[in-house]
Amino acid sequence: MDSTIENAINQQIHQELTASHGYLAMCAYFESVNLKGMARWMRKQAGEERNHAMRLFNYLLDRGCRVRFEGIDVPPFDFASPLEAFEAAYESEKKNTRSIHELFALARKVDDYATMVHLQWFITEQVEEEKWCQEYVGLLKMAGSEPSAVLFVDRQIGEAAAVEEAREAELAT
Ligand code: FEO
Repeated sequence: MDSTIENAINQQIHQELTASHGYLAMCAYFESVNLKGMARWMRKQAGEERNHAMRLFNYLLDRGCRVRFEGIDVPPFDFASPLEAFEAAYESEKKNTRSIHELFALARKVDDYATMVHLQWFITEQVEEEKWCQEYVGLLKMAGSEPSAVLFVDRQIGEAAAVEEAREAELAT
């Protein structure tokens, strides 16, 4: 594999693990303010990001490359509001979409077809990731600072997390 691609995939692994850490910190924040539905969603996301890192980890090993880890920065763990946390999630996903696209462009430049195919899953996944961010940011904006509305959104997000967990459990069987 071209060393530029190998380095860029290692960078992407770092980014996915950083995102996982960030979502886990958001989960802890939501637990601390008793918004259990949003906490559940963020816990699930943390697991998903780790799985994304593992897809790339396994891919590098399959291609006979080296995996190199970097230190992960302390993520933001306190937020002024649920909306601020979900906006931070949205920014993180947009950044991730950009780096996946850059990685794909790099693979295309050096005719690394296997990497291009492997990255297709990630490109599709990012559409989903940005979709839920937009949706939940929108709902929380609508809820504003009205506690009963925020609690309603919390329940809705918790139910969505339960549905996704059940679907993933089914896929794993
Ligand atoms: Fe691994 Fe949320 O992208």
